[in-house]
Amino acid sequence: MSTRAFSFDTFGLEHLRMIDVEEPDPGPGQVKLRVLACSLNYRDTLMVAGQYDPRMPLPLVPLSDGVGEVVAIGPGVERVAVGDRVAATFAPRWIAGPPERALIRHTRGGPLPGMLAEERTLDAEGVVKVPAHLSDEEAATLPCAALTAWSSLVTEGPVCAGMSVLVQGTGGVSLFALQLAKLLGARVMATSSSDEKLERVRALGADAVLNYRETPAWGREAAKWAGGDGVDLVVEVGGAKTFEESLKAIRPGGVVSLIGNLSGSSAPVPLTRILMSQVRVQGILVGHRVGFEAMNRAVEAHELRPVVDRVFPFEAAPEAFRYLQSGEHFGKVVIRVAR
Ligand SMILES: NC(=O)c1ccc[n+]([C@@H]2O[C@H](COP(=O)([O-])OP(=O)(O)OC[C@H]3O[C@@H](n4cnc5c(N)ncnc54)[C@H](OP(=O)(O)O)[C@@H]3O)[C@@H](O)[C@H]2O)c1
Repeated sequence: MSTRAFSFDTFGLEHLRMIDVEEPDPGPGQVKLRVLACSLNYRDTLMVAGQYDPRMPLPLVPLSDGVGEVVAIGPGVERVAVGDRVAATFAPRWIAGPPERALIRHTRGGPLPGMLAEERTLDAEGVVKVPAHLSDEEAATLPCAALTAWSSLVTEGPVCAGMSVLVQGTGGVSLFALQLAKLLGARVMATSSSDEKLERVRALGADAVLNYRETPAWGREAAKWAGGDGVDLVVEVGGAKTFEESLKAIRPGGVVSLIGNLSGSSAPVPLTRILMSQVRVQGILVGHRVGFEAMNRAVEAHELRPVVDRVFPFEAAPEAFRYLQSGEHFGKVVIRVAR
């Protein structure tokens, strides 16, 4: 029986169309999911626009993040059972350990088919059970944004109680970084372009806030707030226009966790400042499955609730993309797939 998916065969959101697809029954080592909800990441908007990789093979079903109910399993599958609620992992072959090219180039939502579909047949190794206390919509936000924040703070951090963390803006990754850093016992400063959003991050637990539009040279302010020599870890999502301020905020020996490039992807690098302060600039690419499972245990133990800004119906998927692009959101934008 055919089901529905969204796909584009030419770059540009105007080419994102609903199509009918026949999803195969699961073969050995595979599971079939009835997709319940998906979430959007900034990367998905770049992917559809052709700005992530203009050579990405098309057609493509977008979105790396989705949660589904297992409706069938193929021979040999023991990790999950029919009825389990699972999330697809971002890089399904990367189970644990250091990244290897062969493991991290196969990522969901490009080049692998994404989750914006009513049904998906996936390798069982590339799914993870999600915390029971979360709604489908909340659980759908975990695979990319939450795990990226977790990898930055824990797997490659590490952040512990009493440390200071700076998070930039109020998008998906940054709000998870705020929530997880608080859960780890850190002090957190959050920045935003909007005073209204800063009120909301305070309510989420931020210890200090700063409007980066009003205070473009926020690096020294953040270092002063942290006390001592500066902030222990910066969750860097701004990229070109924020990196230098992050280097002013960080303490000698601190970590700038390089995650995003919202303001551009190339800038002059102050090499001397990095080496003289022995700063660690740590690139992050989402994370592996074992990290996802460890994060889920923390999310469950602390009953963390992801910040879902808006939920769009499946048929309105292109509107969800437009909304994310508008930058009005606070946290995650979700698409409800199952009726
Ligand atoms: N490396 C990885 O594994 C990985 C994983 C996930 C995401 N990313 C990257 O991380 C970045 C954020 O992704 P996301 O999905 O969280 O995005 P998002 O939800 O769309 O967040 C965007 C928010 O970032 C803030 N922002 C924009 N420009 C900024 C700037 N110059 N300085 C500080 N904040 C700024 C704005 O917050 P305010 O409105 O509050 O100002 C904006 O609403 C993107 O570049 C994405 O590609 C990388």
